[in-house]
Amino acid sequence: MAEVIVKTDQVVKEYRMGNNVVKALNGVNLEIYQGEYLSLMGPSGSGKSTLFNMIGALDRPTKGSVFIDGQNTSGLTTSQIAWLRCHKIGYIFQSYNLLHVMTALENVTLPMIFAGLSVKERNKKGEELLELVGLDDRIYHLPDELSGGQRQRVAVARALANDPNIVLADEPTANLDMIIGREIITLIKRLNQEKNVTVISATHDLKMLDVSDRIVDIRDGVVERIRNRDEIELEVGEVTGH
Ligand SMILES: Nc1ncnc2c1ncn2[C@@H]1O[C@H](COP(=O)(O)OP(=O)(O)OP(=O)(O)O)[C@@H](O)[C@H]1O
Ligand SMILES: [Mg+2]
Repeated sequence: MAEVIVKTDQVVKEYRMGNNVVKALNGVNLEIYQGEYLSLMGPSGSGKSTLFNMIGALDRPTKGSVFIDGQNTSGLTTSQIAWLRCHKIGYIFQSYNLLHVMTALENVTLPMIFAGLSVKERNKKGEELLELVGLDDRIYHLPDELSGGQRQRVAVARALANDPNIVLADEPTANLDMIIGREIITLIKRLNQEKNVTVISATHDLKMLDVSDRIVDIRDGVVERIRNRDEIELEVGEVTGH
């Protein structure tokens, strides 16, 4: 059995809006294993992005704890959290979140500056990562000079900049068409397998089902059910009629 890389323990997240409190997460218990590809699914507003932010240490829970690599993140200082985000986790977002004045290579190598790599090391590694995602002929292009799918490939390469063991992807295919979305999923799955990186993806995209090791359905801020691969394959067969 693979080791548990992320664990959430009774995670509650409340957002205060004036006098109103929105309970986005209502006690989420989840264990995620090193190297697995896990998809978080659920209707809009069910709490997927909120959970993503908790697991990614981008925000803190109101109650409960998130453990990353056995470490309780609620006990960490701001600079320890920053270190964790830089070294252990890579992020991929729906809207790519690339810096527009920077080339593909500069976007990919930016997180390496925070990790303390030299210019030479950064450029070498950045070029390798862009080659890995099939963009070795676009390294000096600005994001505006790239297609949506190519931008997301740059974002995937950037997520791997500091060799994280967790990659978090929040709706990575939502802005892409069927075919390009499928290519991005295949790419993320390939990196999951080749680098044994843990992938946690929030998605509405049913194409994500057949690459996932497990699917976690979130509803109203709680885990509604967890399905593993065999159960998923059955349902994909039902959907596609194979
Ligand atoms: N910063 C915030 N302030 C106040 N309420 C918020 C905030 N972020 C999210 N919420 C609320 O928390 C709930 C969960 O939102 P969340 O973004 O996690 O949903 P989601 O499952 O990612 O939805 P979608 O599929 O549309 O992306 C929603 O009711 C939302 O309105
Ligand atoms: Mg969301």
